Amino acid sequence: MKSNIVLIGFMGSGKSITGKLLAYRLGYSFVDTDTAIEQEYKTKIKDMFAKEGEAIFRQRETATIQKLAQKSHQVISTGGGVATKETDMQELRKNGIVIALTAMPHTILKRTGNDKRPLLAKKSNEERLKTIIELMAKRAPFYKKADLIIKTDDTTPLQNVEIIMKYLKGVK
Ligand code: S3P
Repeated sequence: MKSNIVLIGFMGSGKSITGKLLAYRLGYSFVDTDTAIEQEYKTKIKDMFAKEGEAIFRQRETATIQKLAQKSHQVISTGGGVATKETDMQELRKNGIVIALTAMPHTILKRTGNDKRPLLAKKSNEERLKTIIELMAKRAPFYKKADLIIKTDDTTPLQNVEIIMKYLKGVK
């Protein structure tokens, strides 16, 4: 049985909160790739995007994932772009069950009110919704490759955990 649970999905789909609750429930450690990157490079993601650019962030993200994929018994909450990187996903899949959390663009808009996410920052609500729709259309095919897909528009993080626990019982 694979021993990591990898959460993928768009920004604001609930990966971090669901992941924390799930890790607690399973007795696993919880890792958020963004937080791991921020700790390792001692820079906030939004400053990394602003000062060094997205390409450098993506390289660091890949390096972080390579390391995390070697460890076990973790719930790994990934940044929204990770699912689109095939080699990173291959690494994560070796010892990980991949679960996608999805939500409609309007739900994502409501949940991403603050501006810590550089891809959605400094935009009006209308512009933000447009970006969400466009980016989601590009990424949806990648999120669909997950072992389990949960629509989170009307679920609470605890309900997501229940769905995942039920699924995991069937896998074991
Ligand atoms: C990104 C999502 C963010 C973070 C970065 C880029 C993306 O993570 O990795 O801002 O490309 O969708 P969350 O999905 O945790 O917000």
